[in-house]
Amino acid sequence: MKKTDLKNLLNDMSLEEKVMQLVQIPGNEFEKDAAVTGLSDKKSSDKVKKLAGSTLGVWGAEKAIALQKNYIKNHPHHIPLLLMLDVIHGHKTVFPCPLGQGATFEPEIARKGAEIQAKEASSEGVHVTFSPMADLSRDARWGRVLESTGEDKYLNGRMISAMVEGYQGKSLKDKEHIASCVKHFAAYGGAEAGRDYTNVELSEHTLREQYLPAYEEGIKAGARLVMTSFNTLNGIPSSGNKWLMRDILRKDMKFKGVLISDWAAIAEMVNWGFATDMKEASELAMAAGVDIDMCTGCYSGNLLQLVKEGKVSEKLLDEAVMRVLELKNDLGLFEDPYRGASVEKSLKLCLCDEHRKVARDAVRKSLVLLENKNKALPLSGGKIAFIGPYIDEKKIHSSWAISGDPEKNVTIEEAANALYGKSDVKVKFAKGCNMLLNKTEIGFGAYEADDKKNKTLIEEALKAAKWADTVVLCLGEDLGQSGESTSRVDITIPAPQKKLFRAVSEIKNKKIVTLIFNGRALDLEDIPDKSDAVLICWRPGTEGGNGIMDVLSGAYSPEGKLSMSFPWASAQEPIHYDHYNTGRPKPKEGLSIFSSRYLDCPNEARYPFGYGLTYSSFEISKVKLSGKTLSKNAGSSSIEASVTVKNTGDVKATQTLQLYIRDIAGSRVRPVKELKGFQKVTVEPGKSKKVSFKITEDMLRFFTIRNKFESEPGKFTAFIGTDSETDNGAEFELI
Ligand code: GLC
Repeated sequence: MKKTDLKNLLNDMSLEEKVMQLVQIPGNEFEKDAAVTGLSDKKSSDKVKKLAGSTLGVWGAEKAIALQKNYIKNHPHHIPLLLMLDVIHGHKTVFPCPLGQGATFEPEIARKGAEIQAKEASSEGVHVTFSPMADLSRDARWGRVLESTGEDKYLNGRMISAMVEGYQGKSLKDKEHIASCVKHFAAYGGAEAGRDYTNVELSEHTLREQYLPAYEEGIKAGARLVMTSFNTLNGIPSSGNKWLMRDILRKDMKFKGVLISDWAAIAEMVNWGFATDMKEASELAMAAGVDIDMCTGCYSGNLLQLVKEGKVSEKLLDEAVMRVLELKNDLGLFEDPYRGASVEKSLKLCLCDEHRKVARDAVRKSLVLLENKNKALPLSGGKIAFIGPYIDEKKIHSSWAISGDPEKNVTIEEAANALYGKSDVKVKFAKGCNMLLNKTEIGFGAYEADDKKNKTLIEEALKAAKWADTVVLCLGEDLGQSGESTSRVDITIPAPQKKLFRAVSEIKNKKIVTLIFNGRALDLEDIPDKSDAVLICWRPGTEGGNGIMDVLSGAYSPEGKLSMSFPWASAQEPIHYDHYNTGRPKPKEGLSIFSSRYLDCPNEARYPFGYGLTYSSFEISKVKLSGKTLSKNAGSSSIEASVTVKNTGDVKATQTLQLYIRDIAGSRVRPVKELKGFQKVTVEPGKSKKVSFKITEDMLRFFTIRNKFESEPGKFTAFIGTDSETDNGAEFELI
């Protein structure tokens, strides 16, 4: 529809119709089996159901088409309904969770994955996805780190913009793309105590320097929606925060799309004590510029009255409604309200071999090898016992893969049998223990199991372990232990599995390879010391078993790098590599009295951000700089920082070179390192390759004491290494 026609439509709509375009109601008010991802207090009236502008949680071509047909027929202006869904890391073909995608350090993986997810979801009638989540995540107690790409703003920015490009393509008129929604704006990852829905206290410079960049990258990439976050920022709920939404998001970041609240976040301003009732909450949200009220009666029950009372101007209302209509128009819904959704198309696309192949590659590249003593991996055949609750666990996706079908996931057992079935490698499988103890609290209730069974399960497992040359332990968090409202203070593996691990590790002369399935960084306790190899598998999704066996078998060398620091202890959380130095940094060795330290734990992460082994070994030369000075004002000047990467092992492997920069002194203290670039390079054994990065003045900018982003002359160190603890650096000066 032409812009003028849209304008005429708006002018022709009644006040009530306009208000209802800003109302989103839960999908289960239309479809009984729609996904419900929040608490909905009451059923909407028939009028609201007839006029609401959007819904969420419905997918399936037949259902979506029937719903849309009926809705348009009944709408006074036949305006199509927007169908939104959380397609977070997969629709039917489920990819590794975003935290695992971050570990690939390959934005193209995220882009391709998002593109496939959009194809599959759009074929089933979905128009908008509530993804990507761009929350900087430094606190592994928070279950939602699963949905982020980790603790680094630069890596997150690269991954987020790639996901937006994948979901949206070049134009939303292309029916195989869907609109994306950057969330949760803003700084939800900084939630107090690592719990959902709490307060975030941040200085403006930390907010702007660390927490906002990744959202901005998603908006620069063209994300059509942004979602407000549940948290307060310095005491102001995001959904009522005019400064955050109008000054930062709309003005500074030039966001022109639709701002949608998170589920019930507008109404929850009453619980926060920021609004006295839902009417005031609605007024505050409109003033902040929140266009759509997700799943409460705020806007549907109060906005019309607020406009009539002049508390919300019709101009403000029209601006919000126009943004929603423009989104529908840009999706081509006025011309084709079904956007090509069809059962036949979805059957052809969803879970097709090509999509599975891309997902399998993503799994391989997400795996992070933390230990590999005496080349325990790749597996060398013989007799292998796969032991642990994850040997045949179908739920290896995440709680946010809501439209995925766990039965379609490939387990370790299925993949191992497929791989070794016709070979002379002998395999046995033993569950070893239940995933969790009975009544352990998980996302949607309490886990149920018969704890008494664990004794027999361990005995069977020990028999298999004694028989085998190599034991592959398949352990990890339950699916319900990460995701929304699943914070944990003890981020170790579940109790029954600790017992199983200890029992197996006591068997002498046994090679032990431990796989970890996790939605967050974990405190691995004694697992690394008592395992010969440790491989982090995250929540790998549909092709999990196949991708993992591809690496265990040696067909592919692991190349993943940690997207989050793994601590020595849960109590170290939040922990992140880009911290300040403090006035009394703890000395690397010797006496550490009167220094910033714990008496009972190192300061550093056990496995730092950016860390991960391959099946080969590499030598990285000293950093070479093409010059020692960079001039602040000569626009195009740059310094080339380079290293030579030599594969000193006997297999081809891919290494990820990371460029970190340290600003030695500034008008505010500066992090000890900040990631400014990364490059993956594949090198044949015995060969070398040069890897170089261009350092430019804009990379040195930060939010200075003058409250603006600018660089400051002075000394810097450029590091290039294979993880964030590299000390391979060279100094240069900005003049
Ligand atoms: C949830 C989540 C948000 C999700 C929304 C819709 O509460 O916070 O990430 O997109 O509701 O399901």
